[in-house]
Amino acid sequence: MNAAPDEVTPDSGIAGALPPGERFWRRLGGVAFGGDYNPEQWPAETRAEDLRLMAEARVNLVTVGVFAWARVEPARGAYDFSFFDRVLDDLHAHGITADLATMTASPPPWLVHEHPEILPVTADGTVLGPGGRQHFCPSSPVYRERAGLLAERLATHYRGHPALGLWHVGNEYGCHIAACYCAESAAGFRRWLRERYGDDVEALNDAWSTDFWSQRFASFDHVQPPRAAPTYPNPAQQLDYMRFSSEALRECFELEAGILRRITPEVPITTNFLGGLKSVDVFDWAPRLDVVAVDSYPDPLDERPHLAPGLVYDTMRGAGGGAPWILMEQAPSAVNWRARNAIKQPGQMRLWSWQAVAHGADAVLFFQWRQSRGGAEKFHSGMVPHAGADSRVYREIAALGQELASVPGLLGTRVRNDVAILLDWNSWWALELDSHPSDGVRQQERLLEHYTPLFDLGVGVDVVPPSADLTGYALVVVPNLYLLPSRDAARLSAYVQGGGALVVSFFSGIVDEHDRVHLGGYPAPLREVLGVRVEEFCPAAEHETFPVRGCEALADHEGVAGLWREDLRLTGARPELVFDAPGWAGRPVATRHEYGAGTARYLSARLDEATMRAILGRAAAEAGVKPVVEGLPSGVQASVRAGDGRRFLILLNHTGDKHDVALTGEWADGLAGLDEPVGTVTLPPLGVAVLRATG
Ligand code: GLA
Repeated sequence: MNAAPDEVTPDSGIAGALPPGERFWRRLGGVAFGGDYNPEQWPAETRAEDLRLMAEARVNLVTVGVFAWARVEPARGAYDFSFFDRVLDDLHAHGITADLATMTASPPPWLVHEHPEILPVTADGTVLGPGGRQHFCPSSPVYRERAGLLAERLATHYRGHPALGLWHVGNEYGCHIAACYCAESAAGFRRWLRERYGDDVEALNDAWSTDFWSQRFASFDHVQPPRAAPTYPNPAQQLDYMRFSSEALRECFELEAGILRRITPEVPITTNFLGGLKSVDVFDWAPRLDVVAVDSYPDPLDERPHLAPGLVYDTMRGAGGGAPWILMEQAPSAVNWRARNAIKQPGQMRLWSWQAVAHGADAVLFFQWRQSRGGAEKFHSGMVPHAGADSRVYREIAALGQELASVPGLLGTRVRNDVAILLDWNSWWALELDSHPSDGVRQQERLLEHYTPLFDLGVGVDVVPPSADLTGYALVVVPNLYLLPSRDAARLSAYVQGGGALVVSFFSGIVDEHDRVHLGGYPAPLREVLGVRVEEFCPAAEHETFPVRGCEALADHEGVAGLWREDLRLTGARPELVFDAPGWAGRPVATRHEYGAGTARYLSARLDEATMRAILGRAAAEAGVKPVVEGLPSGVQASVRAGDGRRFLILLNHTGDKHDVALTGEWADGLAGLDEPVGTVTLPPLGVAVLRATG
C-alpha cells in the first residue's frame, strides 16, 4: 500500500530545492550500507528474518526488483505490484531506503514469445536466446516501448512512497550485450550516421576513408553494421559502431530516466556501471545520472587485487565531477563466474569496502543480501550466506555495517588529487581496433602500468577525460591516448604552456576522431609540446626486451623496455632515458621538454615498473606533488577526504604484514571516536585505520 502523498516527501523539510543527488545523501544521513535485495526469490516468512538481520547490520539502503519484470508484469499489461508494495512498506517500517529498480534488465518470457525480434544478434549472425538475462536489442522499438511502459507504471505507482529514495535504471548496461547486429540495429545505425554526418554521404565517405578497398557508399541505405567480414572491417565504421552502440544503450537508459524525472522529479536516478567495461562510455553517460554508481568485482587471486578497482573508483569519481558515488555491488566473498572463485580472506571484504570510501564512495553495497538458493548465481556469495547468519561472512558484514555507521561527519567529505590520468572511451575503442602495429597495446593494462607506480609513490590520482579542466592539476599523465582530436591536443599544449607538467606515453596523438592519421611525423599534434618526432614505430616481438639506462637526473638508473620502440628524433626535448641495446645504444627512449612555463615528458616504449616509478616520481617531484603521507610502507595506501572543515585520513594495509605508519599532524582515531592524538598507527595485515583531524 502506498502512503498518502502528504506524508511521503522522502526528505521533507530537510533539503528544500537541493538537486536530487544531494537530497539523496542528506536523506541517508551517513555512509549508506546494504545490497541487492531479492525477496521475490524467498518465501514471505524469510522477510522477517531479513529485516531483523538488516537492522543488526545497520543496513539503510537496498536495491530492489532488478530482475523482477516477469513477476510484476506476468502477462502483457497485467501489472501487479502487490508483492513489492509489501516489500517497500516493510522496508520503510524498518527505516530502510529503497533503490528501486525499473526492472527492465531481463525481459520476461511472454515478451520474447510474442516478439522474438527483440533478441540480440551477434556480429556473426547468431541470435542469442532467452534464459539468461539482458537478452534484448538496445535498438528494439518493442523492447523500448515495453520498458518505458513498465518504468511509467512503476513511477506512477510508487510516486510518493516513503521508502523510495533512488531509481535504479536497468542493470549494468552493456555488460553482456555490448552491441547488437540485427536489422533493427542496422536501421538505427543508419539513422545515427545520417545525423552525425549531416545527411551527407560524402562526409561519411570522407570520415570512413572509403576509397580504401572500394567501400565508397552511394547512399546511407547501403551501410551495414560491421558484421563478421572476410577480413578487417573498416576501422572507422567499427569505431562509429561502438559509439552508436554505447549511445543506443544510453538511449534506453534516458528513455526510462526521462519518464521517471517527469513523474517523480524529486527522486534521484542512477544506473550501475560495471567497472572496467569497454562498451559503455562512462564519461558520456555520467552527466545524465544524479548519482554515479559502479559494480566492482576484484579477483582475490590477483597479485595486487586492489589496483584495478582503485583505478575504476578514481574514474567514477572523475565521471561524477568529484561528487560522492555509490559502490553499488561487490561480492561479500566469492563470485560464481570465474573459472576458480576464490573467497575473500577474513578482513579483505572490510578492507576493500573502506578502499571504496577512501576513493570517495559514500555508499557501500553488495550483490546480494541473501545468497540465492537456486538459479545461476547460487554459489555467488551473499551477505547472508547459505549457512545463515551464524557464519563468518555475515559476522564480517554486520561488523562492517556497524563500523560504517559509527564515523560521524565522513559523509560529504571529498577526495581531490593533484595528479590526473587521462582516459577517453573513444580512444580506448580505437586503440584496441585490429590491424595495428602491435596487438599488445591494451587500454586497461596500459592504464594500470601508469597507475601502479603512482600508487606506489603514495600519490592519489583523478581519472578524467581529455575534455576536463586540467588547470587545477600539477601533473597530467596520458597513457596511450591513441585517438586525440587536434582541439584536445591543443588543450594539452596550452596546459604545459601555462606551467603544467605532462607525461605522454607512446602511440598517443596518432589519429583524429575518424581514426585518420595525423600526418607529418608522429605524434603530430603533440610534436611541438613534446619536442620529438617519430617516423616509424618498431613494435617488439612478444617477450622481446631492451635494456635502457637513465641520463641527467636519472643517471644511475637501469631498466628494461619492451612491447614497443620508436626511432625517436629530438626536436627540442632532452633524453631522460636511452637504449643500452646493440644497434640502438644511446638512442632516446624517454625525454623531457621544457615548453612555455611547463614541462612535457615522452615515453616511447613500455617501461618496467621501477623505471616508470623513477620517471613519474621525478615528474611528480618537479611538479610539487607530494604523497598523501610521507614514508608509507609499501602496499599501504593513504587517502584524505575533506570538506566543510572536516578532514579524515584513511589508511589501508593491502599487504599480509603488520605495518606501522608514523603520522605528522593532529589525528585522532575516527573509528573508536576518541579524541587523544595518535602518533603512530599500527595496521594489522589487511588492516584499516580511519583518522579524524583534530587540529
Ligand atoms: C553483476 C550483476 C548482478 C550479479 C553480479 C554477480 O554485477 O549486476 O546482478 O549478477 O554481477 O557478480
